[in-house]
Amino acid sequence: MKAAVFDRFGPAADVLAVRDVPQPQPGRGEVLVRMIASPVNPSDLLYTEGKYGLKPKLPATPGFEGVGVVEASGGGVLGWLRKGKRVAVVNDGIGNWGEYTVAKARQVIPVPDAIPDEQAACFFVNPTTALVMTRYVLRVPAGAWLLQTAAGSNLGKMVIRLGKQVGFKTVNVVRRAEQADELKQLGADAVILSGDGPVAERVRELTGGGVRYALDPVGGATGADAVASLAAGGRCLLYGLLSGEPVPVDPRFLITGSKRVEGFWLADWVKAQRIPTLLRLFRRVGRLIADGTLRSDIAATYPLDRVADAVRHATSGAKGGKVLVRIAEGPGEPRA
Ligand SMILES: NC(=O)c1ccc[n+]([C@@H]2O[C@H](COP(=O)([O-])OP(=O)(O)OC[C@H]3O[C@@H](n4cnc5c(N)ncnc54)[C@H](OP(=O)(O)O)[C@@H]3O)[C@@H](O)[C@H]2O)c1
Repeated sequence: MKAAVFDRFGPAADVLAVRDVPQPQPGRGEVLVRMIASPVNPSDLLYTEGKYGLKPKLPATPGFEGVGVVEASGGGVLGWLRKGKRVAVVNDGIGNWGEYTVAKARQVIPVPDAIPDEQAACFFVNPTTALVMTRYVLRVPAGAWLLQTAAGSNLGKMVIRLGKQVGFKTVNVVRRAEQADELKQLGADAVILSGDGPVAERVRELTGGGVRYALDPVGGATGADAVASLAAGGRCLLYGLLSGEPVPVDPRFLITGSKRVEGFWLADWVKAQRIPTLLRLFRRVGRLIADGTLRSDIAATYPLDRVADAVRHATSGAKGGKVLVRIAEGPGEPRA
């Protein structure tokens, strides 16, 4: 079968090559999935650079999520139940950017027919993280302010729509002026341009003293702005490393008002949950993707052979949504 493979760590566009590799075989408790499509996420790019929380043995194939059809089971009841189903594949072993992959049967989630392939491909990483951080971890109540940086990201837009649905208000930090109108149309209550002056000061003016809830995937000075925007008792989740910079934090500021800065990694959170909680969560994610709240804007789709172009597009500024790698035609083609 064909797969995108890297033999050394480095920028994905430089190190990935599409070549023939042996088709993986599912073991007990695993399934063989014929892949249809997979998005290029920031985590995939960190993975090929060797900077992600999971470091693969080389050669390796990226692709933490995606959509496919279960072709075979390596044994076990769950795998047998999943046979023939179109599923979202969460893959922390053999990656999804290949014609076939193997995943644990409990890491393939049947997707309702109402969700087209391109949305099903993005079922897990961003929608689940947006929902879990705001509703399960921070539990932002209706009427409260939540601040987020990199608010124009795919995940940031989901947080804005969740805010509209649940009733919490969002103050959104972006670095490009043209994102302000787009985010306001989505339902952002306030948008702050990071280059326009001290962010925390403006957040305090807007919210009447700062926010109890904040999300930052950038780090560096932007992460420091998110922390500095906290009110007494506030919590800030750091969940990405888009700038690659550490977040400078003044302990005096955290001590006064007992503020908290915490890391969040979906993989860890999921591991700590019971199966019934996860099943309920995935049903909820499916409903919220189908009604548009947790949908991903798709910027472009590239065939597997052009994976280097896909990652180049995904790392360009103002890319306009998720870039997908299309591996095969599937039953859930985009609908009008
Ligand atoms: N911890 C977890 O479990 C978890 C799970 C899911 C996602 N994430 C993280 O969530 C973040 C968003 O993911 P996504 O897929 O939604 O990303 P995305 O759609 O690719 O968007 C990335 C956004 O970040 C902005 N950005 C990039 N570098 C920046 C910098 N140095 N300073 C300020 N803004 C910057 C970009 O702004 P421009 O448009 O101006 O280029 C863009 O709006 C990523 O860091 C990802 O790793 C973490």
